[in-house]
Amino acid sequence: MSRIVGNSEAIQKVVRRAEKIANTDISTLLLGESGTGKEVFARSIHEHSPRRDKPFVAINCASIPENLLESELFGYEKGAFTGANKTTVGKIETAQGGTLFLDEIGDMPIGLQAKMLRFLQERVIERVGGRNEIPVDIRVICATHRDLQSMVAQETFREDLYYRVGEMPIIIPPLRDRDQDIILLARTFLNIYREEFKAKAKSFSESAVNAMLAHKWPGNIREMQNKLKSAVIMAEGTVIQPDDLGLIPVDAQDEPETLNLREVREIAESRAIRRAYQKAEKNMSRTAELLGVTRPTLYSLIDKYHMEDIKSSD
Ligand SMILES: Nc1ncnc2c1ncn2[C@@H]1O[C@H](COP(=O)(O)OP(=O)(O)OP(=O)(O)O)[C@@H](O)[C@H]1O
Ligand SMILES: [Mg+2]
Repeated sequence: MSRIVGNSEAIQKVVRRAEKIANTDISTLLLGESGTGKEVFARSIHEHSPRRDKPFVAINCASIPENLLESELFGYEKGAFTGANKTTVGKIETAQGGTLFLDEIGDMPIGLQAKMLRFLQERVIERVGGRNEIPVDIRVICATHRDLQSMVAQETFREDLYYRVGEMPIIIPPLRDRDQDIILLARTFLNIYREEFKAKAKSFSESAVNAMLAHKWPGNIREMQNKLKSAVIMAEGTVIQPDDLGLIPVDAQDEPETLNLREVREIAESRAIRRAYQKAEKNMSRTAELLGVTRPTLYSLIDKYHMEDIKSSD
């Protein structure tokens, strides 16, 4: 999938899954935090599918007022409501033969969800104010940053629709869990913006690299684009510094004062254990694996450094 930049095992796994799904007509659900690339994946799936020469039509359920969403999706007949001066086809019909991307499906009003479900099951629609059933042949891709399962529990999302759209989920991991991609994407965007703004910046200081690796990237790849754009514009010389990126240098004061090798080693070890534990999402076997030690060794280190807060969740 050529649009997707990323070398990490995590993203490559997602790409392989998406490529397999692309070949089928199965509805898929893209899940991931804001800015992780849900829309990029939706387009890539369409481009890798047998429907690639037909339209790709996207609609964002969160950005269209509730009362307009139905007619946007299903279209309407002339005279269906005040202001309906001529028959208008909706996004679903526009996508005929191709792919419909329903972005922010979690924001679809509950009333409309029933009509959506009917369309997904029977593959026919009726325009607002219309009486004819119109057959539609489209592939549907949905996305959301919301937790649909808990919405189902709270009864704000229909369970039957959830099972219909979510039969084949694709989970896009957040950028902070993809160290390799952080650097690759930073370089990619640096080159793009350097060209675009005819800027001098062409590399990152070591401190900038460390700051990027330590940053949590709550806005994921979109945040990376924004930070890189302003860094390229703001950088004084050819080397981008943490400050240009709006990031705090990984604090030099954090460096241990001591030069005693045993103490230095203990500080480094306990930090590595914490990082591995975070990265492994509190899974102890995985933490041990990342550290290259056995589980018993990990437990004895935790004991030794009194890291009582690190506990097994597996
Ligand atoms: N793997 C990637 N490689 C290159 N660019 C990417 C990648 N993923 C995302 N982008 C870029 O990052 C930006 C955000 O991606 P996208 O809009 O697909 O995210 P999203 O998950 O739909 O976000 P939101 O939830 O905010 O709608 C876009 O400009 C997109 O081109
Ligand atoms: Mg999006």
